[in-house]
Amino acid sequence: MVPTMEIPVTRASQSKINQVDFQNIQFGKVYSDHMFIADYDGKQWSDLRIEPFADLTMSPATSVLHYGQSIFEGLKAYKNEADEALVFRPDRNAARFNKSAVRMCMPEVSEDIFLNGLRELVKLDKDWIPDRVGTSLYVRPFMIATDEYIGVRPSQTYRFMIFTGPVGAYYSKPVRVKVEKQFVRAAEGGTGFSKTAGNYAGSLYPAQLAAQEGYDQLIWTDANEHKYIEEAGTMNLMLVIDDTLLTPPTSGTILDGITRESILTLAQDWGMKTEVRRISVKEIIQAIEQNRLKEAFGAGTAATVAHIQAIANDGIDYELPPVENREFSNKVLKALDDIKYGRAEDTQGWVMKVD
Ligand code: COI
Repeated sequence: MVPTMEIPVTRASQSKINQVDFQNIQFGKVYSDHMFIADYDGKQWSDLRIEPFADLTMSPATSVLHYGQSIFEGLKAYKNEADEALVFRPDRNAARFNKSAVRMCMPEVSEDIFLNGLRELVKLDKDWIPDRVGTSLYVRPFMIATDEYIGVRPSQTYRFMIFTGPVGAYYSKPVRVKVEKQFVRAAEGGTGFSKTAGNYAGSLYPAQLAAQEGYDQLIWTDANEHKYIEEAGTMNLMLVIDDTLLTPPTSGTILDGITRESILTLAQDWGMKTEVRRISVKEIIQAIEQNRLKEAFGAGTAATVAHIQAIANDGIDYELPPVENREFSNKVLKALDDIKYGRAEDTQGWVMKVD
């Protein structure tokens, strides 16, 4: 339990909550009433505060706009039947945020500031947590470089913020993905493991080309040979071949997904065989052709468990088994949801109660 800290709050004069259609929530379009802010002056984080959600004003010379020192996280808050707000594994996000910060030459944010800022914000905007099946309050912590200077160097000043918004599913149906062999998301020694804006910016053009061919996402392959699968960009990749759950290791090029890790833990607890190792595209295609690939899915905070309907490789679309027959991914999605919504006992200590 993280000790609470005093965070001054300026409340919004009028809530926007009545303008929201909670029956039709999409991902990432609506934001709650308040946001948490802290500023770094070159030495320490200070001026922690919660203010009404509002636009930022900044000089056109602000460093983040030019050189991309910008990192973020994504996590979710849920409501249980007793109307309490629950957040899933926020300590893991705080730790991953700081790994991203170090790689991007940005200051770390203490777990205290991260978790207390998050807790106070979610508590204040608790009414924004939707309660329909498949919905949650998405929490977006991020940090940007704020020096007004256009020489290339690490900024000395930074802003850390958290805002939230009610969300529905990130993918509304099973996804069709294309194995990408021309473009590269990340190479060893680069920034692939870090949740930095540039990783996502670089993925947009190849993803757009794939979307024009009818695919929802890419499966990135290794930068050297394009032989081994990496991640999908918005999620980690997991497969069930025969009776084994497989996923590539999180290396320097793959984000260390918290949903991925939670799924591995549950699978192991259930006695399922798991293998964390390099997986070649050839192995996947062979497994599909031999009917040994039972399930394929993406795992991520926003995406949760996103069933993969088809995988395209070298111009051929491979249709995968029907989603309703997928025993493991459907079971693990339900088990995770039961923990997140407080319907099952939290034996792993994954849930932080906010109030
Ligand atoms: C998340 O899963 O929360 C992410 O940050 C992925 C995102 C780019 C939507």
